[in-house]
Parts: sequence; C-alpha cells; structure tokens
Amino acid sequence: MNDGDGTLAAKAHGRQFGPLGTALVIIPTYNEAENIKSIVGRVRKAVPEAHVLIADDNSPDGTGKLADELAAEDDHVQVLHRKGKEGLGAAYLAGFRWGLERDYGVLIEMDADGSHQPEELPRLLTALKGADLVLGSRWVPGGRVVNWPKSREFLSRGGSTYSRLMLDVPIRDVTGGFRAFRAETLEGLGLGEVASQGYCFQVDLARRAVKAGYHVVEVPITFVERELGDSKMSRDIVVEALWRVTAWGVGDRIGKLTGKDKDKDKHA
Ligand code: GDD
Ligand code: MN
Repeated sequence: MNDGDGTLAAKAHGRQFGPLGTALVIIPTYNEAENIKSIVGRVRKAVPEAHVLIADDNSPDGTGKLADELAAEDDHVQVLHRKGKEGLGAAYLAGFRWGLERDYGVLIEMDADGSHQPEELPRLLTALKGADLVLGSRWVPGGRVVNWPKSREFLSRGGSTYSRLMLDVPIRDVTGGFRAFRAETLEGLGLGEVASQGYCFQVDLARRAVKAGYHVVEVPITFVERELGDSKMSRDIVVEALWRVTAWGVGDRIGKLTGKDKDKDKHA
C-alpha cells in the first residue's frame, strides 16, 4: 500500500483517477493559541493554492479570535466556530460538511500543533492523484516519530495493530490524523452514520474506506511531537476507541458468518 507517489498504485489498481480540485486543509483546534498562527502560515507557504478551514470548539484560550484575525487578513483562510468541545470527530464532520457544500475537490485533515508538517502536504497531494484516500503514515518504511515518549508510541502502535487485526484492514497507521480525501471518497463513506467522537474517528473512516473498496495509499511522514500546548488525548478517548473497534470487529465477523457483508468492494 505504501507506494510513494501513488502512480504505481494507479496502474496496479486498473483505475483512472480524475483531476484533483481545490484543496481545503481542515485544522481542528481546541486551545491551540500558541500554534495556530505558525501552522496556518506554514500551510499557506507549502500549498499556496489550497484553502484553510480552522474548526474551533470555542477554545477558552482565545484560539477562535486569533483564527478570525488570520481569516481577516487572508481570503484563503476561514473559520468554523463551534459552540463547545465536542471531540475531534464532530469537528471534522462539521468541517467536511462545510467543505463539501462549497465544492472543494480535496479535503485534508491536519493537526494544529505542528505534529503534521505542512511541508509534506505536496507529497500527500501527489499520491492522491492515483488514489481515493491518502494516509500520512508513521508506521510504514520511511515514516517516523520525533520526540514521542515511549509510552505514547506504544499506545499508537498497539492501537494500530489491534485495529488492523480486529478490523482486517491492511493499513499500518490506522489512527493517524494527517490525511487527504477526494471529495467523492468522503461522499461515499456514509458520514451521516459516523458516531465516533474522539480519535477513533480516524479508525472509523479508514475502516469505512477499506470496506467500501476505495484505493487507500499510505505515504510515510515524520510526525513531530508538539512543542507548545497540551495533547487532548485522554483516558476517555482510549476507552471509546477500544470499545468501538472491538464492537466493529465483532460486528464484521458476525456479518461475514451470516452473509450480510454486502457493502464489500462496492468501489473496486
Ligand atoms: N475542534 C476540536 N475539538 N479540536 C480538537 C479536539 C476537539 O474536541 N480535540 C483535539 N482537537 C485538535 C487539537 O487542537 C489538535 O489540533 C488536533 O485535534 C490533535 O490533537 P492532539 O491532542 O494534539 O492529538 P495528539 O497529538 O495527542 O494525537 C495525534 O495522534 C492521534 C493518534 O495517532 C493526532 O494526530 C490524532 O488525530 C491521532 O488520532
Ligand atoms: Mn498533537
């Protein structure tokens, strides 16, 4: 699945992929006042033609106001103000809806804290020319993590491995959050039924994409742990991921046994 720029995959998969439309980089924020200006500046420099949507959950530290200031001085930057902290999944679903309504051709997920390097966006976009979905991956050859404590690496690797085995998805980094979707791919994932709130949202979408038969490509990235502000990872987020992944895995197995797995390979 890891094939660099995606061209090999395009041929191997025997599919023609249409041209990419304008990209919208969606950045969810909760208390990222120290990071927001720098990350938006880096995105604008790395992919000047792309637009940016900051999806802020009414951050108490004033991130939303800083985002408004950035939007006021740059017509490629917009802000989606949400009423309160509802989790990463809800923020992305609102951001996707916003972008699809405005006919963006590519929707990108990216963290605000610098862990996902905007300078790697062109590589993700190049790979998307031959794919339905591109995942920035820490756990394929060439991918790496900088400054993560061993405990966090263990959690992420463990979460990916458990998800891969439980859900039967051939993806090394199932929980990552640096991704580029074609609009048509998102439209085919049944976003209206997504209930995941925390970081298992990422597993949910990856699993839906594989199940629907979309061509998913992993591209190696260097994930750099944040220097400013705090991670929002919590015990609740881990617990939600664990029970949902387990429930999906069990549901899939029951579906296979009873022959109800009819969605498989719809888009292959
Ligand atoms: N709007 C909104 N609402 N944004 C949120 C929320 C929320 O409830 N929770 C987190 N965010 C934003 C953060 O402000 C940041 O921009 C991004 O989501 C990622 O949050 P972090 O707290 O920095 O995540 P992390 O570094 O611990 O986790 C990373 O790895 C996970 C596991 O691989 C992220 O890349 C996750 O997406 C990924 O699932
Ligand atoms: Mn982070």
